[in-house]
Amino acid sequence: MKLKNLCALALSCGLGMLGFAAPAHADKAHPLIGFSIDDMRLERWARDRDFFNAAATKLGAKVLVQSANGSEERQVAQIENMISRGVDVLVIVPQNSKVLGNVIAEAHRNGVKVLSYDRLILDADIDAYISFDNLKVGQMQAQGLVDVKPKGNYFLLGGAPTDNNAKVLRQGQMQVLKPLIDKGDIKVVGDQWVPDWSPAKALSIIEDALTANANRIDAVVASNDAIAGGAVQALAAQRLAGKVAVSGQDADLAGVKRVVAGTQTMTVYKPLDQLATQAAGLAVGLATGKTPVYNAHYENGKKSVNTILLQPIDLTRAKVDKVISDGFYTHQQVYGN
Ligand code: GAL
Repeated sequence: MKLKNLCALALSCGLGMLGFAAPAHADKAHPLIGFSIDDMRLERWARDRDFFNAAATKLGAKVLVQSANGSEERQVAQIENMISRGVDVLVIVPQNSKVLGNVIAEAHRNGVKVLSYDRLILDADIDAYISFDNLKVGQMQAQGLVDVKPKGNYFLLGGAPTDNNAKVLRQGQMQVLKPLIDKGDIKVVGDQWVPDWSPAKALSIIEDALTANANRIDAVVASNDAIAGGAVQALAAQRLAGKVAVSGQDADLAGVKRVVAGTQTMTVYKPLDQLATQAAGLAVGLATGKTPVYNAHYENGKKSVNTILLQPIDLTRAKVDKVISDGFYTHQQVYGN
């Protein structure tokens, strides 16, 4: 075990005994941050990594990044490895929100702070959480569909059951849909979660749903662009793409292009540079003992977690150019071939 880790165990090298509340590495001008990402093979997480690296480097920190490529076991092993390499802070996008309690306890025993990034880690003693307001994202998704299909048969295509965001999104969606379901305007003809947010699994779920409902589906409440892509592919095979309303999230380039083409009704744009930049500031703050400014609290099953929530932006065809004016994509990327 490294000296500083021993110091963390020994009450911050004596400071604790003197009554100082300083963390183990408070003197660190150049903290080492471990960024553990569920799956960087997905478009959005590679962008998070790049924005985060740039912001953290500007603040004088060094970043170790690892992608678990969708495996919860690999993620635990990678986090253990980062702890043993002496990181000061862990920033984690959990693959499975419920399995990291032990490794996070190990981090704390070694004086390492833990920031939950985008997805809330449950049942664990984490130091902070930062994300977009996922309840609002869910509301935007349902509202975007209700605006164009106020009545009809709705299929609920949820995200990964291991991802707490998937459940919060569903809560937000239901806040909009429930009154219309109760009124009898909307009928939910199916409701499924898509393991790993996999487009291929979403495709086969919607293929089956179309068969089961004799193609009578008016809207698919898809919780992100990856699974919206699978849904639109299944719809296209039945010549229904553009006729059935489909929601999404992330403003993935393919999702934005579908919104432009009219095969996807809307997406939700989350300026990832804001998230990553604030997260980098928060991580450095945690490492150096600064008290960050929070604007929310989330119960994670273990504690009420200090949280920073950022605002998402809904994008329909009429508003889609916002991703260009913001510099998220170039005009050529969105409208070129
Ligand atoms: C969610 C995240 C979304 C989406 C999804 C799949 O937790 O908030 O933006 O990308 O994971 O990676």
